[in-house]
This record gives sequence, structure tokens and C-alpha cells, in this order.
Amino acid sequence: MTSYLDRLFCLRDRVALVTGGSSGIGRGIALALGRAGARVVIVARRPTPLADVVAELTADRCTAAAVSADLGSRDELARAADEAQGPFGPPDILVNCAGLNLRPPLGQLTVRQWDELMAVNLTAPFLLGQCYGPMMAERGWGRIINVTSQQADRAFANSGGYGAAKGGLASLTRSQSEAWAPHGVCANAICPGFVVTPLTAEVSADPARTAALAARTMVGRNGMPADFAGVAVFLASPASEYVTGQVIRVDGGFSAT
Ligand SMILES: NC(=O)c1ccc[n+]([C@@H]2O[C@H](COP(=O)([O-])OP(=O)(O)OC[C@H]3O[C@@H](n4cnc5c(N)ncnc54)[C@H](OP(=O)(O)O)[C@@H]3O)[C@@H](O)[C@H]2O)c1
Repeated sequence: MTSYLDRLFCLRDRVALVTGGSSGIGRGIALALGRAGARVVIVARRPTPLADVVAELTADRCTAAAVSADLGSRDELARAADEAQGPFGPPDILVNCAGLNLRPPLGQLTVRQWDELMAVNLTAPFLLGQCYGPMMAERGWGRIINVTSQQADRAFANSGGYGAAKGGLASLTRSQSEAWAPHGVCANAICPGFVVTPLTAEVSADPARTAALAARTMVGRNGMPADFAGVAVFLASPASEYVTGQVIRVDGGFSAT
């Protein structure tokens, strides 16, 4: 039984890079991949939350390292992409989870804010894919997991620039699949519903709004970072070999109502 599940889901001998792995959904995914056996490198800006997640994984007898970088800067991204290969070699699994949302009404969204939203939410996943996708293809095995948003498909909450970037990311996922799936590299996206994290602190501070969002799900509650553990391990594992170019909704049924 164990060896059957191992063959399907075990990530031993795999290296995973998780951007945004220091907080929220990315942290949930980094912990899950580490516990499933991968050696994990997490990338984000703030050193303390990065160190905390590395310590958490290490305390769990997992292997992890961190690289601090602003993925909104192309120079820093290039440095991080290089440095991230230092501890355990090039990644077999790339999770693009770092993201930010800026919420002025669209008419007040500045070009500078638009550029920042695009740089972190869309250009960084593109550039990291360009860096690692061909390497994975050459090795004949890889996984790319992009974290999109419901705003890829619908507009709400003054998130026009963010939604445009996430729509682009869903599209990029399909193109990454087209490019590298013939060489054993599956590219998929996870589309969360409303998840309680620092990113959504402003919304979470309003109990009536969070209750209304929970009521719109079928499960009856909002998401938590731990809800992404199973889907991340599946998409990173041998079990998902024939699943590629897809957007997997993890939203308690929110999008199905
Ligand atoms: N929470 C939700 O309801 C929800 C719904 C749909 C989609 N998502 C998506 O899920 C992903 C994770 O969001 P979350 O809710 O878990 O947010 P979070 O807790 O705020 O985590 C965001 C992560 O991204 C990192 N990050 C942000 N800007 C960065 C930059 N310029 N360079 C490098 N790292 C950066 C942050 O670390 P530093 O700040 O230290 O850099 C942090 O690790 C995002 O892509 C978000 O769009 C979230």
C-alpha cells in the first residue's frame, strides 16, 4: 500500500522552488511539498518570514533553503533564479505563487501600479518558466504550477490590474504546457477562491463580508492555506503525468454556484 502511494505521490529526490513560499498559500504549498519529500527552496522579499518557514520545515525533518529577492525587479529575479539552484540544483517543480493585489478603482490605477502588478503576478512566472522550463524539458520531467485567481474569469473588488495579470497567467499556463508537455513537463494552474491570508487582510477585517463570501461557497467556509496541500502534491507528483494545461479550482465550490 505504502509503495503504491509512494509511486503516485512521493516527491523524494525532487527539488521544488516555491515563490511566495514564506506566507499564506505559498507557505501551505511549500510545507506540503517538503513533507512529501521534496527539497524546497522558497523565494520572497522579507528574510524573517522566509527563515521561519525554513525553520518549520527543518524542524519537521524536511530539507529547505531560502532566497530573498524582489521578483518585481528583473535584475533581482535573475539573481534569485541563479541562487535558487545553489542549495540543491535546478528545480524539478516550479510553483509561481508570489503575488500582490493593488485595489484602487480601475480609473485610478496608475501606470506604475499596473507595471508592478504585471511584473510580480505575470512577468515573474514567465521569466522563471523561461529559465527552468527548458531545463526540465531537457531532463524529461518537470512540473510548473501557477497560482491564478477567480479574477482571471470575473471582475470584482477593484482588482482590474490584478485580474488582467491573473488572466494572462492562466493563458501562460496553457502555453507553457504546449511548449514543454511533450517533454514530460506538466504545467497547470491552481485557482483559489477566497482564502484568509495577509493578502486578503483588508477583506477579512470585515466579518460581514467574509461571512457573505463563505456563504457563497458550497462547503460553507472560506479557504485556508492548508487546503492547497493535497492539490499541490498531486500536481507536483508522478500522479498528475496526464494532467496538463489545466486550471484546477480550489474554492469550496464558489465558482460552481
Ligand atoms: N488569498 C486569496 O484569497 C487568494 C485568492 C486567489 C489567488 N491568490 C493568489 O495566491 C497567491 C498567494 O497569495 P496569499 O493570499 O497567500 O498572499 P500572501 O500571504 O500575502 O503571500 C504573498 C507571498 O508573495 C511574496 N511576494 C509578494 N510580492 C513579492 C515580490 N515583489 N517579490 C517576491 N515575493 C513577493 C510575499 O513575501 P514578501 O512580502 O516577503 O515578498 C509572500 O510570501 C498570490 O499569487 C495571490 O494572487 C490568493
